[in-house]
Parts: sequence; C-alpha cells; structure tokens
Amino acid sequence: MSPVGAAKVRQQAAIARPALLLAWYDRHRRVLPWRPPAGQRPDPYAVWLSEIMLQQTGVKTVGPYFQKFLARWPGVAALGRASLDDVLRMWAGLGYYSRARNLHACAVAVLRDHGGVFPDTEEGLRGLPGIGPYTAAAIAAIAFDRRTMPVDGNIERVVSRLFAVEEPLPQAKPVIQKLAATMLGEARTGDEKTRAGDGNSRAGDSAQALMDLGASICTPKKPACSLCPLNEGCLARLRGDQETFPRKAPKKTGKLRRGAAFVVTRGDELLVRRRPEKGLLGGMTEVPGSDWRAAQDDDVALTQAPRLGGVTRWHRKVGVVTHVFTHFPLELVVYTAQAPARARAPKGMRWVPIATLDGEALPNVMRKVIAHGLG
Ligand code: ADE
Repeated sequence: MSPVGAAKVRQQAAIARPALLLAWYDRHRRVLPWRPPAGQRPDPYAVWLSEIMLQQTGVKTVGPYFQKFLARWPGVAALGRASLDDVLRMWAGLGYYSRARNLHACAVAVLRDHGGVFPDTEEGLRGLPGIGPYTAAAIAAIAFDRRTMPVDGNIERVVSRLFAVEEPLPQAKPVIQKLAATMLGEARTGDEKTRAGDGNSRAGDSAQALMDLGASICTPKKPACSLCPLNEGCLARLRGDQETFPRKAPKKTGKLRRGAAFVVTRGDELLVRRRPEKGLLGGMTEVPGSDWRAAQDDDVALTQAPRLGGVTRWHRKVGVVTHVFTHFPLELVVYTAQAPARARAPKGMRWVPIATLDGEALPNVMRKVIAHGLG
C-alpha cells in the first residue's frame, strides 16, 4: 500500500475505533462479580469497592474478596458503621493494607459528609480517602458514565501499541492518557463536561472494553492480534513489533532488606503482636520479629527475639522466607521456639490459637513465615 493509502486506512481506523471497541465489548465482555448484566446501571458502592480492591490486585484474586465484603456489608452505610479491625480482618491476604484503612475511612466520610451517597463527579470523588486520580476516573466513568478515561496498566499497553508510543513509561503517561481519551469517541454534544448518562457516550463501557482487551487479547506476551477488533489501525502491529510496547524506563528496585521472624508456640497457640498503626502493614497482625534492614546481621537480629522468661532455645529453620513489597524485597530468617505451658506473653503480645489464625489480619508475608515456621 502507498504511504497515502496507509495513512488513510489509519485515519479511518481512528474514527471507527470507539465504535469497533464497544461492539467487541458487547459480544465479549468478561463476566465479573462487580459488573451488572449489560445495559443495567452498576451500583456505585460495588464499583467503588471493586476499584479499591483492583488498585494493586488482579481480577482473579479480587473476585472472592469482593463477594465476601458485599455479603457482609451490602452498602456503604453498613461498611461505614463496621469496626476498622473487622475490615482489616476481612482484607487480610489482599495486601497493601492502607487500602483497607482508606476504604473504611471513605465509607465513614460518605456516610458523615455526603448523606451516604457517593459524589458523582471525578472532583467530588477525589476528595474522599483512598481515591486518587485513576480511581476517581474509573468510578466516575463506570458508575456515573462521566466522559473520562481511567488508564490502568492494561489500557497503557493497548494504547501504547495502537499508537506505537515511543516514549517510555512512566514519562509517557500524559501522552497515553490523551490518546486513551480518544477511545471515548466524539462527544455528540461537543461539550466535554456533558453528563453522558443521556446516551451521549458509554464511557464506563469504553474503559472496561480496553481493560478486557488488554487482559484477554492485547496481552504482554504473544498478543492475539488476529482476534483484535482494532487490529487494522494498530500502528505497532503494522510495524510488527507490538510485543515491545509499552516502552519502559529501567526499573529502580529497592535494596534487599533482611530480618528475623520468631515463630513461638505454646501448645497449639502462637505468639503474635499488632504492628504499629502507621507505616507498612500498619495495624496488621505479625509474629514478633527484628528490624528489617539492608545490612542486617543474623546475630544482631536474634538479640531482638521476644523474652519469654527463662532460657529460650531458638531453632533456626533452614532456608529463608522471601517477599517482595513495592519498594523493597525482604528476606526473613525464621526462628522457632516452644514456650512452656504457663509462659506469659511479653508486653504488647498475645497468644492466639493456631486454629483461629484465619480470623486474624495476617498479611501474606506473615502467612509465609508462619507456614515456614510451623512446617
Ligand atoms: N481493573 C480495574 N478496574 C477494572 C474493571 N472495572 N474491570 C476489569 N478490570 C479492572
């Protein structure tokens, strides 16, 4: 094809893209617990709950948690009246626990400041705890059909391929955001701010269509381009290097931190404590442990073991438990000990029956440590 011909194909594809995308979504949308059947308006509470859970967690993991939360707290008022501890317990295992604290704070704020009704604009939503620009756009589009495009990792990949965006992430974010917004199609009224619930747009569906496309067809490796509704106008595909998008600046990973964790049993009970409210995994349950440091010495870590009265015989388990947090990887050496039947828990710690650990707000790293220590 001549360059002029190719340009024309691309131009036509650009005009047709939003409609092609929605037509594809109407046939192939994923059935997800927070999505009502096609054509029905979603419940803003369900949309918000799912979007908070999906912030750093995949669709498959979120599904059962979402359903558990919805069954226990069917609306924002019920969640706003729940205790933070109950919310943290239900959240245990999902990770990034500040989300659970913000989730609770947000429900309280909606109840107290908004009469139990979520604001229906991006701006209003952004005033609530735990709702940043992405989540505000996602809720505004999906729950209220506001003409806005939330851009997550899937959408970044789809858009960077469609337009062959050469700039690497994260610098490319504003460009990708602009290009992604073109997938909303023309606003029929010409007014960007127009409330789209009157049939001017299907912003929420367009966003979720791009998410689904990224999750099922425009995958990071071996994208199934022949099945893609947008393949004709995809610049990366025309060039044949679609897998190389999105371009990424080299990642700076945090330095490895090391520490020790102490798995102490008293019969069928385990010694635990609560982490400080502020900071990483704030308010969650953990087994006692040493500091986590880049230069941690095993002998020094052992001096931070809990004192149980008398001499405690520590047994070092073979191997280490590893966990990767957003800002650093962690390696924990695990020590075990058996406390005598009447041993008192040191200050700030308590004994919990091992059989009831599922009811504790235990982060994943601690689940791994306990499994290793008791294994
Ligand atoms: N990721 C974030 N929000 C999502 C949604 N509404 N559907 C599918 N994946 C998502």
